Amino acid sequence: MRRWMIAGNWKMHNTINDAIALAKAIKEGTQGVTGGEIILAPPFTALQSVYETIKGSHISLAAQNMFYEDKGAFTGEVAPSMLKDIGCTYAIIGHSERRKYFHETDDTVNLKTRKSIVAGIKPIVCVGETEDEREKGVTEFVVGIQVKKALYGIDKIDDIVIAYEPVWAIGTGKNATPIEAEEVHRFIRNIVGDIYGDVCKNTKILYGGSVTPDNISELIGMEDIDGALVGGASLKSEGFIGIIRKTSEKK
Ligand code: 13P
Repeated sequence: MRRWMIAGNWKMHNTINDAIALAKAIKEGTQGVTGGEIILAPPFTALQSVYETIKGSHISLAAQNMFYEDKGAFTGEVAPSMLKDIGCTYAIIGHSERRKYFHETDDTVNLKTRKSIVAGIKPIVCVGETEDEREKGVTEFVVGIQVKKALYGIDKIDDIVIAYEPVWAIGTGKNATPIEAEEVHRFIRNIVGDIYGDVCKNTKILYGGSVTPDNISELIGMEDIDGALVGGASLKSEGFIGIIRKTSEKK
């Protein structure tokens, strides 16, 4: 059985002090919640402080990005071994904002995903169509290519999490209906199943895009939605705790 997972992507928000306060509030507010996994992805500058705050607790740490080389002359980049060193279990890879603003491609997403596995960092691989692509009816075509390319050359799916984040739903307040989201989640699970066989039943697929405490219950009620990658609503402890509690009640 798949355990639920709720991850908070803080994006480029929070100073070290803000990050510590938020992580502490989330840790305290989710004591005793069981059956799933809670992940915080602060900016690089706050990784260490958040790690110290959640160390030994029920919460895991993620980076929002990583590079696909171990070391070298790559100014501004961070290696997976460095993320391990600072206490990260996960790294978000190929978020649509990285694809849009930093020109990441399906090829770099694949390089990063492969590297993360080798380095012992579990990847949360993001895929999703734009509004234009959805309107043109090519959602499955686009998402299918993103998933297949991300997983190309990887022989084990075990530690990979996939996040379906329709680009038009990110930070817009518009979210996919539970049925729309479930259709794409099922489609992704089938693709993973075609590549990896029955083990795909254990693969976690998260939904992301304007998730709030008000819409999480319906989303999480769908069979192939195993959790959420939350942006805006993860920046306030009450909202994020609400999402976690509602998920744990439903899954
Ligand atoms: P919002 O929840 O703010 O729409 O962001 C979603 C997201 O991009 C998470 O990675």
